[in-house]
Amino acid sequence: MVVLVTGGAGYIGSELIREMSRDKRFAGETIRILDNMFRERYVSLWNLPREAHYEFIEGDIRKKEDVAKAMKDVTLVYDLAGITNAPLSFEREELTRQVNYEGAKVVMEAAAKAGAELIYSSTASVYGPTKGVVDETYDCKPVSPYGKYKLMYEMEMLKAAKEGRVRGMALRLGTVYGWTIGMRFDTVIDRFCYLASIGMPLTIYDSAVNEKRPYAHVKDVVRGFLFVPGRKDMYGGTYNLVGQNAGVGEVVEAIKGFLPQVQVTITSTPSLNQLSYVLDNAKLAKAGFKCEYGLKSGVKDIIDKFEAFTRSSKKQRFP
Ligand SMILES: NC(=O)c1ccc[n+]([C@@H]2O[C@H](COP(=O)([O-])OP(=O)(O)OC[C@H]3O[C@@H](n4cnc5c(N)ncnc54)[C@H](O)[C@@H]3O)[C@@H](O)[C@H]2O)c1
Repeated sequence: MVVLVTGGAGYIGSELIREMSRDKRFAGETIRILDNMFRERYVSLWNLPREAHYEFIEGDIRKKEDVAKAMKDVTLVYDLAGITNAPLSFEREELTRQVNYEGAKVVMEAAAKAGAELIYSSTASVYGPTKGVVDETYDCKPVSPYGKYKLMYEMEMLKAAKEGRVRGMALRLGTVYGWTIGMRFDTVIDRFCYLASIGMPLTIYDSAVNEKRPYAHVKDVVRGFLFVPGRKDMYGGTYNLVGQNAGVGEVVEAIKGFLPQVQVTITSTPSLNQLSYVLDNAKLAKAGFKCEYGLKSGVKDIIDKFEAFTRSSKKQRFP
């Protein structure tokens, strides 16, 4: 069996390709990574477990020839490649469209042709401004180009799946947090952990303190990805994968639990991306999957990595 992970060198992908080797369904099988190294996470390819056989193709999902090469003998595709970072997508809309929409379609067509199962990494950013608790039936109105093109592709993929042209499903992830070797630091929890660890103050907007957002621990995201293969009943469906809906205040409290001296500045300037999301994860729970990891363990894992700096901070020696 060959499993293809597009974007396998990224934040989530770097953990997925490792965890797969520990799953007996994949042990000894080939895990093929397709990534154009846009994010330059070369470290993600270091020290991979010996239990699985890895192949790496440096290639672009927008190029049919790269995807065709990567799809050879593949039975399962995790499609994680993409231009991430929603706020930045306003500045790079065309690139975001090309990769997150056109490129994803290239992957879908190749997966359909190969008869491979396709698991798509979608996002809570497809929803846009919401009221109350929303589930997957909510009428999405994404604000950022990132959310817009993720949704446009997701809708096409799910349509193809419902028509039986591809065996696919989408998981709509909350903002991911937690340590991986290829992690990002442009998302709120991870960035706050970094800043707090190196002794920088955390600046939060007063309006955001209690405004809820959906989060998912990266270990739960990987567990979710490993849960869904073979679930024919889930084909054509989209599923929220959310561990907790939390306000920034709760995130800061979790960090303070490990770094009590962290400085917090509250400002009344409104955030540019002031959107409230509270997502319901009942559909995925009904399908049999539940998140297990919480903010505390995610925050601790990251802060622990910066131990060289937090050691001195614990002695109140911030510069
Ligand atoms: N991290 C989150 O908070 C989050 C939340 C919801 C959804 N997602 C989705 O999950 C997926 C993975 O996210 P991540 O956080 O690991 O992001 P990431 O940016 O760390 O990883 C994306 C990977 O895709 C690669 N890539 C970019 N353009 C490519 C191209 N044209 N061809 C091949 N590879 C390309 C990058 O080099 C990178 O390694 C993305 O599709 C993202 O939209 C992430």
